[in-house]
Amino acid sequence: MTLSINIPSATQAKETDYCGVISGAKTDKIKNCRFTIFYGKLKTAPLIEECPVNLECKVIHTLTLNSHTLFVCQIEETYISESGLTDNKPDVQKMNPIVFTTEPRQYYSIGNVTAQAYSIGMEIEQKKNK
Ligand SMILES: Cc1cc2nc3c(=O)[nH]c(=O)nc-3n(C[C@H](O)[C@H](O)[C@H](O)COP(=O)(O)O)c2cc1C
Repeated sequence: MTLSINIPSATQAKETDYCGVISGAKTDKIKNCRFTIFYGKLKTAPLIEECPVNLECKVIHTLTLNSHTLFVCQIEETYISESGLTDNKPDVQKMNPIVFTTEPRQYYSIGNVTAQAYSIGMEIEQKKNK
């Protein structure tokens, strides 16, 4: 079994929310959102062209829980839109991924860089005995 994870940008809040509140069991969500589908190397998992990041996955384990089924997946390929790249590398500010919070139920964008990772924490280490 295969599936895809498609990360929308903050500018796609309307389509993202629609896909969250409406079931695809009876409605063609792809058509209503005017999304374009493409297939990658696995050939079986539909991917959404309009989303800046697409992860093509193989399902490795399926865990049946009380209310939900949990899929443990292996990412086989990653696709990033040209518009989400700087010097051919992923640029998270350009991808502008949407962020969802449960309380309040809102969508955000990620904002600015706040610090350098694997680095700012060392300031505590350097000052700990001073
Ligand atoms: C903002 C938002 C977040 C959601 N998060 C989850 C989630 O984490 N897990 C889940 O099973 N359903 C979640 N849902 C509900 C599903 O998106 C919903 O059941 C949807 O109808 C499923 O579509 P489908 O029937 O086409 O698979 C969320 C819905 C919204 C609007």
